[in-house]
Amino acid sequence: MADLRSDFLGIKSPNPFWLASAPPTDKEYNVVRAFKEGWGGVVWKTLGEDPPVVNVNGPRYGAVHGPDRRLLGLNNIELITDRPLEVNLREIKTVKRDWPDRALVVSLMVPCEEKNWADILKRVEETGADGVELNFGCPHGMSERGMGSAVGQVPEYIEMVARWCKAHTRMPVIVKLTPNITDIRYPARAARAGGADAVSLINTINSIIGVNLDNFAPIPEIDGKGSHGGYCGPAVKPIALNMVAEIARDSETSGMPISAIGGITTWRDCAEFLALGASNLQVCTAAMTYGFKVVKEMISGLSDWMDEKGFTAIDEIVGRSVPNIEAWQYLNLNYVTKARIDQDLCIKCGRCHIACEDTSHQAITHTVNGVRRFEVIDEECVGCNLCVNVCPVENCITMEQVHGVDPRTGKPIPDEYGNWTEHPNNPMRVQEAAE
Ligand SMILES: Cc1cc2nc3c(=O)[nH]c(=O)nc-3n(C[C@H](O)[C@H](O)[C@H](O)COP(=O)(O)O)c2cc1C
Ligand code: SF4
Ligand code: SF4
Repeated sequence: MADLRSDFLGIKSPNPFWLASAPPTDKEYNVVRAFKEGWGGVVWKTLGEDPPVVNVNGPRYGAVHGPDRRLLGLNNIELITDRPLEVNLREIKTVKRDWPDRALVVSLMVPCEEKNWADILKRVEETGADGVELNFGCPHGMSERGMGSAVGQVPEYIEMVARWCKAHTRMPVIVKLTPNITDIRYPARAARAGGADAVSLINTINSIIGVNLDNFAPIPEIDGKGSHGGYCGPAVKPIALNMVAEIARDSETSGMPISAIGGITTWRDCAEFLALGASNLQVCTAAMTYGFKVVKEMISGLSDWMDEKGFTAIDEIVGRSVPNIEAWQYLNLNYVTKARIDQDLCIKCGRCHIACEDTSHQAITHTVNGVRRFEVIDEECVGCNLCVNVCPVENCITMEQVHGVDPRTGKPIPDEYGNWTEHPNNPMRVQEAAE
């Protein structure tokens, strides 16, 4: 069986699956239950200064569901912990003492003054916790008070607070980034410049999940009103994957340890984030939707897949996909594909035809010789893959590489790689020396 043991910034855990700072890690009772189910670590729900914040007393969640009522996206207007600092610190100390083999990182958010950070770091250090995560990400409630994403949106503040924290603690410092910015590389670079040991991302995305069309209040509604919230869950995974990859690829931040967060639900999600450069994984919505037992599928699924692929340790997967991410202009324009429909699998629903007919390239028939039949017309197909994605039957439509002459253009397909930078239609192309 593959070795799932993890060493992230010197913090050891039996696996790289940690619960993200959120309701699942809000108190000892939850964290102990999570550890019993096998979670490798937790980032404790963000601590702040006393007196604690006060949450709304009505609905704080809203969701986007798929047609089968599966939860795809979760929106929340919750704040950081609303329990006294002393209570949290006491519980953290107890849990760390009782579960020494698990990772226990404490998330923090205090006003942007060096003394405030120094004071809370000292108190966290006394608990024996393994590290701290600086919450520069929460998009609601705290940002209006100059904390959370109000800090995470200003690289200079990130660098400044990271530097203070490194100066005032010997614990590893993880900077948690907000996705509510234009280019994730800038806050990540600032975290590195400030001396942070790692970044974690993503926190939640600014969102309004819906509107009640009877009273026109945003959802979730509190007495007829609502606020924007933070969006997370499976729907945000592609955004998180890209941001993780951006940091892994950037020359100024590559090599900086990354803890990936955002929509992780299954072992496959974990493997994808690892391949894109993360070496630690955090989960919130999946645990809130299905309970702590989801970690069992992550552990067995990832280790089975690693065995099948011949990987023996997590490090062997980390960053494997990074060299395969390429700027668009370097993609091979001589790689030509056509859609292929498996007539035995086709249920003749017609979705591929209508998608291609109305919005793509009129490359799929609906009748052949007067009979309902869906066939690809190679002379029209540009290989876009839309039909594959709208077909309700998995693997019924696949893409196949073609060689020789492209029936659509009538031109030979060069065997060698060729990209946009050298294409004759590109006015900026690098001219051949002989021209
Ligand atoms: C209800 C709720 C409360 C959260 N509270 C915090 C928090 O206190 N501190 C923090 O850093 N992130 C907080 N988060 C964000 C999560 O830690 C995580 O970054 C985000 O949910 C994305 O992961 P997911 O898609 O697995 O849920 C919260 C998320 C939810 C849903
Ligand atoms: S790949 Fe694109 S162009 Fe070709 S048949 Fe499918 S939808 Fe049409
Ligand atoms: S969408 Fe798929 S199943 Fe439906 S007609 Fe096209 S190929 Fe057949």
